[in-house]
Amino acid sequence: MTPSTSPVVLVTGAGHGIGRATVRKFRATDARVLAADVDLAAAQDLATDPGVRAAHLDVTDPASVDACVAECVDRFGRLDHLVCTAGGDKGTPPDFLDQTDDDWRRLTELNLYGVVRCIRAAVPRMSAGGAIALVGSVNGLAAWGGAPYSAAKAGLVNLTQQLGAELGPRGIRVNLVAPGTVRTRVWDDQPGRPDQMAVLYPLGRIGEPEDIANALAFLCSPDASWITGVTLPVDGGASAGPRHLFTRLSGRTP
Ligand SMILES: NC(=O)c1ccc[n+]([C@@H]2O[C@H](COP(=O)([O-])OP(=O)(O)OC[C@H]3O[C@@H](n4cnc5c(N)ncnc54)[C@H](O)[C@@H]3O)[C@@H](O)[C@H]2O)c1
Repeated sequence: MTPSTSPVVLVTGAGHGIGRATVRKFRATDARVLAADVDLAAAQDLATDPGVRAAHLDVTDPASVDACVAECVDRFGRLDHLVCTAGGDKGTPPDFLDQTDDDWRRLTELNLYGVVRCIRAAVPRMSAGGAIALVGSVNGLAAWGGAPYSAAKAGLVNLTQQLGAELGPRGIRVNLVAPGTVRTRVWDDQPGRPDQMAVLYPLGRIGEPEDIANALAFLCSPDASWITGVTLPVDGGASAGPRHLFTRLSGRTP
């Protein structure tokens, strides 16, 4: 049998939310996917599809990251794209003066170093022509939420520029998607909140996981072959500015 030439994608944080939608999106393009998550059972749900394999991955543990990348290459024979969605800001007090060194360390480990580690492990195994797509947040672009999470996500903006320039000559592109509010389980403890936030978005709704998955798949596709080092807000227009709110507050129809 001739080995498959369809691209192989390693998706971190694949078990839930944006990562899960991303696995499905890549499968719709016929890519083969290693769905990696600290919640192995959730990743295994996806592996009923024969083009998806599940793996345990804790991005805060260097040995786990190295093992996961090795497993991807062992199982599929190659690695074309790395998509880093694992992240979050659970369990941190909202106010700066209440946030401890431990909060800063924990969120930086998960949201910044976790991504650094995955990239460092993956790049030596990646094929030229491959792409890395990261998930940041509008929190990394302006004041939307808690400082430790936002600062870690802001770090991804510069990391993307640095690595876009550094890895370009190796034929590897690096880009970042910065989502606004997306309907996932992270909002489960605040029922109704995501839809209340729709007013902040010029396009009049919050995002769905598929909105982000579509952008990640585009950035890894040949259609994006001359795009690297950029941050793409996928946020219903929120980072364009508050003009729509002025119109609303003044009672004028747009
Ligand atoms: N939901 C939003 O409103 C929103 C907005 C902007 C950015 N984001 C970002 O999008 C990404 C995905 O968020 P989501 O809303 O889908 O959350 P989610 O909790 O539904 O999914 C996150 C996934 O990451 C996994 N994960 C957590 N820690 C991990 C670790 N140490 N190692 C490996 N996997 C780990 C979880 O098990 C889960 O499957 C995150 O980076 C988040 O910061 C989310």
